[in-house]
Amino acid sequence: MNPGKFITLEGVEGVGKSSNLAFIAEFLRAQGKNIVVTREPGGTPLGERIRALLLDKNATTMHRDTELLLIFAARAQHLAAVIHPALRAGQWVVCDRFTDATYAYQGGGRCIEPQRIAQLETWVQGDFRPDLTLLLDLPVATGLQRAAQRGEADRFEQEQQGFFERVRDAYHQRARLEPARVRIIDAAPALEQVQQQLLTVLSLWLE
Ligand SMILES: Nc1ncnc2c1ncn2[C@@H]1O[C@H](COP(=O)(O)OP(=O)(O)OP(=O)(O)O)[C@@H](O)[C@H]1O
Ligand SMILES: [Mg+2]
Repeated sequence: MNPGKFITLEGVEGVGKSSNLAFIAEFLRAQGKNIVVTREPGGTPLGERIRALLLDKNATTMHRDTELLLIFAARAQHLAAVIHPALRAGQWVVCDRFTDATYAYQGGGRCIEPQRIAQLETWVQGDFRPDLTLLLDLPVATGLQRAAQRGEADRFEQEQQGFFERVRDAYHQRARLEPARVRIIDAAPALEQVQQQLLTVLSLWLE
């Protein structure tokens, strides 16, 4: 039994994950929790190097299985060096993307069978899963427009809209499979309204 809780933030590019991460951390700190904020892929020095490989827009020949294995390699390091130690110490961990993103991008987007992802999930995580997942949801075109305002596209952002539609569908599938854990937040309205929804969901969940 972990004394800390593990909360993940998910959604397609540009839905506002990074924009809302600090807000969620601040809210939880105000509730007296000791918070660690982290992200995937990455979250450790080694993992950030793997992230750079994964996002490199020049790595156009990367095989989808290589991509999948790199993501779980970074995740193994992240769990061992950051996530598990923090939770054991009673800290709460808020993570920008986790394994639901693997089901969405490598499963939905790259069409890798979910059973294969589940095998790696079991190998790397055992039965460890997030306690709560906040899925920010937005029509793909809107998210891509928001992401485009940030500048140069990484390797994933260079994919076509159909790829991101499959990613979004796979995220919805995750929410259907585990409705108690994966909560859908409407990311379309202004940031303050998105944050209001986050507060409502988090407050109820904390009770
Ligand atoms: N509710 C909102 N309304 C309008 N613009 C928003 C909203 N939320 C975030 N943005 C803007 O959209 C852009 C993308 O947001 P952000 O970087 O937080 O998304 P993200 O989900 O982290 O994307 P990525 O998956 O690419 O990391 C930013 O420029 C941000 O300021
Ligand atoms: Mg982000």
